[in-house]
Amino acid sequence: MTNKLLLSLGFIAAALVLGGQAHAQKFDQLAKTPQLGWNSWNTFACNVNENMIREMADAMVSSGMKEVGYEYINIDDCWHGERDKQGFIQVDKKNFPSGMKALADYVHSKGLKIGLYSDAGATTCAGRAGSRGHEYQDAVTYASWGIDYVKYDWCDTKDINPKSAYATMRDAIYKAGRPMLFSICEWGDNKPWEWATDVGHSWRTTGDIYPCWNCEHNHGSWSSWGVLPILDKQAGLRKYAGPGHWNDMDMMEVGNGMTEEEDRAHFSLWAIMASPLIAGNDLRNMSEATKKILTHKDTLAINQDKLGVQAMKWIDEGDFEIFVKPLEKGEFAVLFLNRADAATTYSLDWAFHYMKDDISKHEIFFDKKKFNWRDIWSDEKGSTAEKLTINVPAHGVRVLRLIPQ
Ligand code: GLA
Repeated sequence: MTNKLLLSLGFIAAALVLGGQAHAQKFDQLAKTPQLGWNSWNTFACNVNENMIREMADAMVSSGMKEVGYEYINIDDCWHGERDKQGFIQVDKKNFPSGMKALADYVHSKGLKIGLYSDAGATTCAGRAGSRGHEYQDAVTYASWGIDYVKYDWCDTKDINPKSAYATMRDAIYKAGRPMLFSICEWGDNKPWEWATDVGHSWRTTGDIYPCWNCEHNHGSWSSWGVLPILDKQAGLRKYAGPGHWNDMDMMEVGNGMTEEEDRAHFSLWAIMASPLIAGNDLRNMSEATKKILTHKDTLAINQDKLGVQAMKWIDEGDFEIFVKPLEKGEFAVLFLNRADAATTYSLDWAFHYMKDDISKHEIFFDKKKFNWRDIWSDEKGSTAEKLTINVPAHGVRVLRLIPQ
């Protein structure tokens, strides 16, 4: 082979590599703060249809959720029909007789966005058609319907490589040309936090949630988890979260059977951990208590803070834990969690405490730097110049916002 020929082959190879890289992107402007929305699975499982989805979009508006920032209406598993002769996915015509484009148009007409669910394997977790081998076709189809969000699951994936499987769908979405938030759902099995920053906008960190405070719900070959087990599984993950790439603690169970105190704690914890906040209840008939929790502006502001730093566990006293989330403008959110079955009173003499966050590079000597605080649920106010004595209900939280004096 002549040198000239070798050189041109080299150029071609480099062009191919670079060309490949040019497509290896996710849509960068999405999920700069954790995504806010609703998903069908926790309440409806496979019982999804277009009327219910329309009503949910209506309820997101009428409940005031849209006004405080909720945006996505996500249809989880079971919207799928068969693939056509060319391999293009169809909707389940019985439950979605008007088609997905019409439904997306409706959701958009409410000023909201719409999401769909698929799976990296040949079949979804509920046995519908998965995207394996059809990734580019599916992404183009979703784009043509006007879809804004893709949740991508990990059932029936056999021995395929997770990083390549998710990167393939990411590339397919990018190629389809419509910005679609890419929500990775492989339950944390392959540590997506280590490889998915450039692949998805969020990744599930655990198996499925279950509406209980501190339980493991055994399904035989797999388990789903209550609020505390999911929280505990976040240990060590906060350094991987940031604008555009979040640790997803799963769709919420607020309004799905826990006590009001537990629901408030669940919501506050997901918020301070900078998890996507995706409601999983029936928005059409929420109790006032549920609505108040889901639309609580001060909690949402902590979750949506532009700094995009996940909370750290600052103090661990077994059943009593304190989490701190650095916020913009030198402010902090401080969450007191009582995991136990009885209410407790905790005393904190700020002046004797020091807080250091290696990730966001914040450090506070509370004897030197003073803050005013406000309890974001009760509106009680105070200052870190004085010792704090705080009552925290059983299975509950108190959340203070600290503002520099
Ligand atoms: C998996 C996911 C759930 C849900 C179901 C649908 O279990 O983790 O969130 O999407 O599949 O079948």
